[in-house]
Amino acid sequence: MDWKLLTNSAYVPFSGEREVCVVEGKSGKYYPGVRVENISYPLTIHADQSAISQCLSQGDQPQKLTAPKSFHIPEHRRQFWESDFSISFEFGDSLPSENWYNPFLKSDISVFPTLQKLLDQAVTPNSDFQVSCLLKISDGRYIRGVNVEFSDWQTGLCAERVAIATAYAFGVSSFDELFVHARKGEFVSPCGACRQVICEHFPNQPVHMFHGDLTESTIYSSYLLPYSFTSTDLNKT
Ligand code: THU
Repeated sequence: MDWKLLTNSAYVPFSGEREVCVVEGKSGKYYPGVRVENISYPLTIHADQSAISQCLSQGDQPQKLTAPKSFHIPEHRRQFWESDFSISFEFGDSLPSENWYNPFLKSDISVFPTLQKLLDQAVTPNSDFQVSCLLKISDGRYIRGVNVEFSDWQTGLCAERVAIATAYAFGVSSFDELFVHARKGEFVSPCGACRQVICEHFPNQPVHMFHGDLTESTIYSSYLLPYSFTSTDLNKT
């Protein structure tokens, strides 16, 4: 991992602002984050939000955020991370050469038991409603995601969006299938915001939903979001 690789991994077709960062956890592990934009701009996932969510999903505590000098993290976000996690900030060029978090799972895992176990990693102080997600990437491996909540509800991310943001942070942008599970509730189904994000990254791939009652449904992503928002006025950079 180096800054150039990380910077190239940001998904910023609308602004071109290649916002990236690395978060160091208390465990000594490093979590990369890149900006992942959405055609509906407010659904954009920030680099810091992505890296800190990955860190917390590992039961780790974020301690230090390092970013290039060009990353202008807004004051309100910086204050939020400082007050809720006492994170320190460093702007510069130093990047670790090892001890990175590994979000990948091998292609031969059993999907449903893995999703069930993954629920334990969800960070849900507000809802106590755990969701897990596996994103199958084109080489057959999977990327993990769980929902991560913060005292500021709007900063939290659903499991699906954590998985997609993590994939980009690790340079993966080609996805085959998505698997989602929630133990509670009869029926699990991606929320509206996740549908918007899912459809931007895999417009017509299967989304498998493993429900709390142990039934399963599959739907192609294009059916999740009829009449979705698009506009050629939002020219890609
Ligand atoms: N949640 C997900 O993780 N995925 C969804 O598609 C639906 C909602 C999470 C978000 C929040 O942490 C909790 O469930 C309650 O909304």
